[in-house]
Parts: sequence; structure tokens; C-alpha cells
Amino acid sequence: MKRIVTVLAGVGIAMSSFAGTAAAEPAELSSIVSKQEQQKMINVAHRGASGHAPENTMAAFHKGFEMKADYIEIDVQMTKDGELIAIHDTTVDRTTNGTGAVGSLTFEEIRQLDAGSWFGPEFAGEKVPTFEEILDAFRGKVGILIELKAPELYPGIEEKVAEALMERNLHRPNNEKIIIQSFNHESMQTSKELLPNVPHGVLAGASWADVTEEQLAEFATYADYFNPNMNIVTHDLVADVHEADMKIYPYTSRSQEQALRLFDLGVDGIITDYTEHVYHHPVKSK
Ligand code: G3P
Ligand code: CA
Repeated sequence: MKRIVTVLAGVGIAMSSFAGTAAAEPAELSSIVSKQEQQKMINVAHRGASGHAPENTMAAFHKGFEMKADYIEIDVQMTKDGELIAIHDTTVDRTTNGTGAVGSLTFEEIRQLDAGSWFGPEFAGEKVPTFEEILDAFRGKVGILIELKAPELYPGIEEKVAEALMERNLHRPNNEKIIIQSFNHESMQTSKELLPNVPHGVLAGASWADVTEEQLAEFATYADYFNPNMNIVTHDLVADVHEADMKIYPYTSRSQEQALRLFDLGVDGIITDYTEHVYHHPVKSK
């Protein structure tokens, strides 16, 4: 299921040509994108298609799949009683009608919460999904970029994630459709030891703007991806990451201009709340 995904290279052309055009279809766009402007670009639906549906819910993941994202990104944490769930913050306060730290609540308590109404009344009743529910619903349909969120709060979470993947044979070699990433780099080293055939990624906040070639080489001993805050991405950084034999998927694009800038810098993928900012042009697999 190879796809060529393109964005329009050249902010000026893209934005001025389509200003005032209500709904430009990908087919129309493809006719003005020259072959030279096409490059394979991986499209990651951040927390699901979180520009359109409440983040880290099944509604957002289904929307990302429908919009033909290559991957859905999920934030994985653990409840008090050891259930792996998808939620971004370390408390339930912002994205549900409950309060409290994720790790201080049981799964049953969290499952009763409404994780959709905060985003819009049409999403009332959305639940916080489990990691295993997401794997079972989307494995083989769309890639899954698994972020271990604050794993230092959840001792043993790497093992639990590994078990869930192994039970489903998702730990096999050459399985590029599962990637594990974290801002906690020690956690990624632990996880890579448990799952040596699963690609791993190092997330890097803005404080990594001056990451050195030596640091990238060290990351590359266990990571296949260096995924930074988009604001620190430069041509040089992209070149250095590639030189270290890793790929680069910056986060988090929320506008067309941001996606175009990242495209121009030559990144391998874009983590975005708006999948539609990266246009898809299906091509036949060889
Ligand atoms: O995929 C990377 C990105 O999700 C990291 O930032 O805070 O949205 O989890 P955050
Ligand atoms: Ca995330």
C-alpha cells in the first residue's frame, strides 16, 4: 500500500492560487504539481485526526484512517490498575469530564468518563480507548506511531507494551507499520532491547536545537527516527539526521504553511493535526 504523498512545494503558488477556492480537490492539485515537486512524504495523524475529532479517541483514529493518513499517533499511559490507555496529559482534566492523575485512577473509573464532549457535543460519549483496542482496530489498516508518554511515571510500561505487540505478532522484523517513540530516551533504550525488530524514535523538544552529530550517532545506536519539535528543523538538521541513518518526522504541524515549510526542508514525514494539509496521490505498488 505504497502511496506518494505530496504537498505543494512553494508556499506562494499554493496559497495564492487557492485563496478563495472553496474546496480544491487533490486531483486538481495533482495536475499542477510537477514530477520534480513530488516526493514520498509520510503523513502522521497526530493523536488521531485531532483537528477534526477529540484527540486520542476512536473517533479521531477512525477519522485519521478515513483521511488516508499513513500513521495514527497515540499517547500511551497506564492506569492505577495497570491498563494501557491512550491519553495525552498525565491528568484526565483537560480531555475528559473527570479530574485526577491517570496513574491514580483505575481503568473502570477512567472508562466512565466522557472524552468527547469537550471537543464538541457530537462527540459526547466517546471513551478513553485502551491500547489493545486500538491495536485490534487498526493493525494492518494504518501504521501506528506509539508514543510512551511520561513512561517514568509508569514502571514496567515498556514490558506491557511489548507484551501487547508480541501477542499480536507485531514485533516481527521489517514491520515498519509500528513505531515506538518517546521524549524519555532511556525508556526507548529499554524498549528497543525488548523489541529489537520494532523501529524506535527519539522525540526531541526545542532544547535539542543544537543537537550534535555525536549525539545523533548515539541515538542511532537504538533509534531509527529523530522526531523533533518542528521549530528546530533546518536543512542542516535534516542532513545530519540522514547522515546518522535515521529518518525525521517533526511535530506538530497545524497549518498549511508549516507543512509546506517542512516539506521544503526535506523531512521524511510530518506529524500533523490536519491530515488534509498533505495531499495524497495513490500510486500502484510495484
Ligand atoms: O508525535 C510527537 C508529538 O506527539 C509529541 O508531542 O505533546 O503532542 O505528545 P505531544
Ligand atoms: Ca504524542
